[in-house]
Amino acid sequence: MRFKDKHIIITGAGTGIGRGIAHLLADEGGRVVIANRNRENGERVAGEIKEKGGTALYIQTDVSQDKDIACLIQQATDAFGPVDVAVSNAAISESASSALELGMEEWDRVFAVNARGSFAFCRACGQNMVDCGTHGSIVTVATLMARSGKGMSGAYAPSKAAVIMFTKTLAKSLAPMGIRVNCVSPGVVATDIYNRVEDEMMMERGTFADWLVEESVKNGQLLIPRAGTAEEIAAAVAFLASDAASYITAQNLSVDGGMDWCW
Ligand SMILES: NC(=O)c1ccc[n+]([C@@H]2O[C@H](COP(=O)([O-])OP(=O)(O)OC[C@H]3O[C@@H](n4cnc5c(N)ncnc54)[C@H](O)[C@@H]3O)[C@@H](O)[C@H]2O)c1
Repeated sequence: MRFKDKHIIITGAGTGIGRGIAHLLADEGGRVVIANRNRENGERVAGEIKEKGGTALYIQTDVSQDKDIACLIQQATDAFGPVDVAVSNAAISESASSALELGMEEWDRVFAVNARGSFAFCRACGQNMVDCGTHGSIVTVATLMARSGKGMSGAYAPSKAAVIMFTKTLAKSLAPMGIRVNCVSPGVVATDIYNRVEDEMMMERGTFADWLVEESVKNGQLLIPRAGTAEEIAAAVAFLASDAASYITAQNLSVDGGMDWCW
C-alpha cells in the first residue's frame, strides 16, 4: 500500500498503459483521478476501480486545452485535496509519414497534446504541490522513440524528446521544494495507440505491435523477445512515484526489454 490515501492524477488513463497505471496505484491505496478526453473509456476505468473497492473519479480532460487543465486541478483538489502524485501519460500518435512528408498541421496536432499538453499538466500539478507544500512526485511518459526516432515518426518522436527534456527542466525548478520529476520510456506495448498507423498502413487492427516485436527480435534489437505489458510499465511508474525513489529525480527510465540499447 505505497500510495495509501495519496491523491494521484493520471492523464490518458481510459485505455492501455494509463489504465494499467490507474489500476496499480489504486490497488496500492491511491485515490486516483482518471483524466481522459474520452468519457466512455474514462468512466469505465473509474467504474472498474470502484467495483474492486478502490477510490477513483473520472474528470473529462483534453490536456491540449489550458482551461481543461485548470478545471481538472480545481475539481480534483475539491474532491481529494492537494495533489500528491501526477502521471502525465496521455498522448496521440501520428499519421505514418516521414519527416519530409509531414504536414505542419500534423506537427501542431501531435505537439499540442504530447509536448505542450503534457508540460501544462505537469506544471499545473507542480504548482499545486508548491502552493500546498506537498513533497510530491511527477512522472511523465515518453518513449523509446524519443531517443532513436524511426523514419516514420516525424512529429511523435520529437514531441516525446521534448517530454524527456522538460522532465529535466521541471525537476530542476521543483527540486528546492522537495518535488521529484522523472520520466518512463516504454518500448512496445500492444495498445490502441497503434490504431492510426495500422489503418494507414492497411494492417489489421492489433497487428502492428506484433510486427514490430518480430522485426526487432529478428534484427537482434529486442533483448527480451516479446512486447511489454501495461502492468510492467505501471510498475516502473509506481516505483518512481513512490518513496522508494526518494533520491531519484530528473531521470528517464527505459522500460523496453533492452530495445533502447540496441535499436
Ligand atoms: N504502446 C506503446 O507501445 C507505447 C510505447 C512508447 C510510449 N508509449 C506511451 O504510453 C502512453 C500511453 O499510450 P498507450 O500506448 O496506452 O495508448 P492509448 O492510445 O491506449 O492511450 C492514450 C490515452 O490518452 C488519451 N488521450 C489522447 N489525447 C488526449 C488528450 N488530448 N487529453 C486527454 N487524454 C487524451 C486517449 O483517450 C487514450 O486513453 C503514451 O504517452 C504513449 O506515447 C506507448
